[in-house]
Amino acid sequence: MLDKIKNLLEELNGFSATTLEEVEQFRIKHLSKKGSIAVLFADFKDVPNEQKKAVGQALNELKTTALDIVNSLKDSFTNLDFGKSGLDLTLSGDAVKLGSRHPLSLVKNEITEIFSRLGFTISEGPEIEDDWHNFSALNFPDEHPARDMQDTFFIEKNPDVILRTHTSSVQAHDMSEMELPIRCLTPGRVFRNEAISARAHCIFHQIECLYIDENVSFADLKQTLTYFAKEFFGEKTEIRLRPSYFPFTEPSAEVDVTCSLCGGKGCNVCKGTGWLEILGCGMVDPNVLELNGIDNKKYTGFALGMGIERITMLKYGIKDLRLFFENDIRFLEQFSAAGF
Ligand code: DAH
Repeated sequence: MLDKIKNLLEELNGFSATTLEEVEQFRIKHLSKKGSIAVLFADFKDVPNEQKKAVGQALNELKTTALDIVNSLKDSFTNLDFGKSGLDLTLSGDAVKLGSRHPLSLVKNEITEIFSRLGFTISEGPEIEDDWHNFSALNFPDEHPARDMQDTFFIEKNPDVILRTHTSSVQAHDMSEMELPIRCLTPGRVFRNEAISARAHCIFHQIECLYIDENVSFADLKQTLTYFAKEFFGEKTEIRLRPSYFPFTEPSAEVDVTCSLCGGKGCNVCKGTGWLEILGCGMVDPNVLELNGIDNKKYTGFALGMGIERITMLKYGIKDLRLFFENDIRFLEQFSAAGF
């Protein structure tokens, strides 16, 4: 009997718990009516008389020790418990689910990173614009049909207040406000009165690039485009320029890259042509320099602008533009693994 008590005492002293629940289980196992100590007490009647004193003392000690252990462990947890709040701070917490970057942000960051290696810095401008910065300062004369190229949201009460239709509007801010030379990159949100479909949205994003200095030539533009295309779409990518028209550049061009999916052989993404259109560009029209207070005898420049949604769709093979705005986590979390 004394041995049994000694062993149990050792077991009790070796007990530790990490939750209140464990302490309660310990209490039931040893101190309840049918617990291990009660069993020993029940056996006490069979102990020979001459041992009763020693065994009785040992049993009482055992019970007190067990009670002490339970009470002090309970205390230690109740102190963590913030008193009566009932909070069990020993419970493990809920795992925090990490979000992921939006694919448009990933692509915007990658593009700005590439241009920053060429010395371009970020500039920003307002989304709510006036007619001057969005149109007139960029050589869109009043009533000129080129204004119809972009379906504009006007504010009814004041037609001079519009939502910018392109990030080119920031060119006008930069040219009139910054010191020369200018080497700016402007990512931002733009707005057009378009019906929402798989290929168009009334809100989308562009990145504008503007470089003005002495002796900037078309060769600088072409080299910048080549560098960007190879960095972004891969070393084998080639570019081609097609003549185009924008009021604020002369000459103007649209730029195609060899299709990154089929390598230029022709597939359904490039509609069998081997080429994908990615952006518009040109030499800043001397009129635009003059309209914004820059000496067009001394300075020249190039500008380019691209749609971030379009580039992102090409990069990841996304077929429906609306996915970017629905914020469905199952769509969005697929891009975090891209490792940007
Ligand atoms: N702003 C034009 C658009 O939204 C894109 C563009 C074309 C920007 C040519 C430029 C450029 O800077 O040179 O369609």
